[in-house]
Amino acid sequence: MKLPFAESYKIKMVEPLRRSTRKERELWIRKAKYNLFNLRSDQVFIDLLTDSGTGAMSDRQWAEIMLGDESYAGSSSYYKLKSAIQEITGFPYFLPTHQGRAAENVLFSAMIKEDDVIPGNSHFDTTKGHIEYRRAKAIDCTIDEAFDTTLDHPFKGNVNLNKLEKVLKENNRDKIPMIIVTITCNSSGGQPVSMKNLREVKKLADRYEIPVFFDSARFAENAYFIKIREKGYADKSIREIVLEMFNYADGMTMSSKKDAIVNMGGFIAMRDKELFDRASMFNILFEGFISYGGMSGRDMNALAQGLYEGTEFDYLETRINQVAYLGEKLKEHGVPVQCPFGGHAIFVDAKRFLPQIPQEEFVAQTLAIELYLEGGVRGVEIGTLLADRDPETRENRFPELELLRLTIPRRVYTRDHMDYVAAALNNVYDRREYIRKGFVITKEAPILRHFTVELERA
Ligand code: F0G
Repeated sequence: MKLPFAESYKIKMVEPLRRSTRKERELWIRKAKYNLFNLRSDQVFIDLLTDSGTGAMSDRQWAEIMLGDESYAGSSSYYKLKSAIQEITGFPYFLPTHQGRAAENVLFSAMIKEDDVIPGNSHFDTTKGHIEYRRAKAIDCTIDEAFDTTLDHPFKGNVNLNKLEKVLKENNRDKIPMIIVTITCNSSGGQPVSMKNLREVKKLADRYEIPVFFDSARFAENAYFIKIREKGYADKSIREIVLEMFNYADGMTMSSKKDAIVNMGGFIAMRDKELFDRASMFNILFEGFISYGGMSGRDMNALAQGLYEGTEFDYLETRINQVAYLGEKLKEHGVPVQCPFGGHAIFVDAKRFLPQIPQEEFVAQTLAIELYLEGGVRGVEIGTLLADRDPETRENRFPELELLRLTIPRRVYTRDHMDYVAAALNNVYDRREYIRKGFVITKEAPILRHFTVELERA
């Protein structure tokens, strides 16, 4: 008998979970104004809101916590992290920041000004937020295939080179401070970018003398997909693939809360000393001195260790297999999910799940609420709420995809938990035609509204 797949780690510490009744959940979600961000974590049984900062650190990472050096300047933890970043990414300069959006804030302060345009593949919401906050514009150049959830394409995060070149041609060179490629592309469904595409983007950018930055939160998962799906990479190690990927970038921002498996942290890395000097000033202003930038020494130690563990093949295989396991369970039942499955999450196509709910009534949010009511599972809306209003017209922006993201924390839940989540969503699917109405907004913030929005039933 062929031996089945099994996780590449075992569990040393556990945290109790509390179940709840449907009646309790009905009360809690109403009190939360139908915003899942407003729920207390003990009102949630299985939390798939995000894979960001929710992973389980390893025994080795916890050991590194004890070895942290809390010196203000020049700590050994800083040098440990610097050497891990250099070894794994190849970038000689780096600045620690407290998380990914802080890295964006520092880098963009040094590089982006009003009226600039920043092309890329479906920028993440904080990235777009930091661009628009500077009165610049993010232009989405993702391939069209990404927006058809039924289409099986191995690299749906790819940049469409024609769309990109059009932006580069139509704008002055000094209006385009950078191109941002997000690996994997969160907003299009945790979808990877191929090595070929990264190479071609860099080649095109070089012709126009525009630097390329990777939003690298899930770079290791991207490398795993290249190894599994792209010709010529099967025999290369994850670390070799990662080095080649970053070879096609001038720098990167990182939310370490994802593929570096820590609860908090981020960084910027780059090749250009002059940019490093400029960005250092903003780092000191916003984050802290350049040798800690918002992180404790112990956290930099755990991050350095996490970068090594997060780029091991066995870990990545376990991780991505678990996500795919959940995806298969849903797909088998007929639930419309983004194919192929993403690296960090399963994205449920809410428009196809609930075609009777108009986009104006926040269809993906409606589905997220139904799943919570069914089983205490918290997913997150990636749809019209997240898309915010157009900064000029103040009209709702209706994205092509309305997704419910079921984001799997790293090394946290078991296969039984995945079975439970699948059963809950499959139950909602079986009663989908009885869900007749969505939601309307009663209160919202001008930017990044999804975190604090308040809703009531339509
Ligand atoms: N870039 C990407 C691709 C992200 O997914 C995130 C965060 C960030 C940047 C910002 O990093 O949270 O450390 O400030 N994504 C989380 C998520 C919040 O749930 O997908 P951060």
